[in-house]
Amino acid sequence: MKNLLIFCVLLSMISCSGKKQENQHQQNVKIVKQSEMAALMLKMYEVNLENKSLILQGKQPQDFSKEFLKIHSATLTDPSDRNASFEGFSEFYLDTYQQLMTSSKDSLITNHNKTINSCIACHKTTCIGPIPRIKKLLISSN
Ligand code: HEC
Repeated sequence: MKNLLIFCVLLSMISCSGKKQENQHQQNVKIVKQSEMAALMLKMYEVNLENKSLILQGKQPQDFSKEFLKIHSATLTDPSDRNASFEGFSEFYLDTYQQLMTSSKDSLITNHNKTINSCIACHKTTCIGPIPRIKKLLISSN
């Protein structure tokens, strides 16, 4: 079981760096177009960074952006990433985000961290590259 996990992690590392090489290759041929999903992810990152600073100031995060629902339809750099598991993680992420929006003030930190952990959960199965960056969105309890 543990070996299988290590194998999966290695596999995703290989496929991630493989993608990078492919992108670099494409860059030589034509200007690389950022995928819709990559653009959406960067927006999600910005909003969650903003939420983190709002919560640290004791404020309620901004409203749920309908734009995030595009996670179900945005085109991916690698379209084969969109499978049943990806859809499951998308739902899980949207659920935790919606919980944060309706959260009471004293559970804002817990619910924010739940949201960020749902980003990380999906990234563990798709692309592990941005995980260290995403972890910076977590609010530590001390
Ligand atoms: C359902 C799976 C899933 C969830 C949930 C998810 N991601 Fe992603 N993320 C991906 C995939 C797949 C890519 C690669 C997108 C592409 O290249 O088309 C990506 C790319 C990224 C990137 C790199 C964008 C770039 O190209 O520079 C960042 C940063 C990122 N995600 C942050 C986040 C954050 C923050 C969250 C939570 C708020 C999140 N992700 C939730 C799957 C997910």
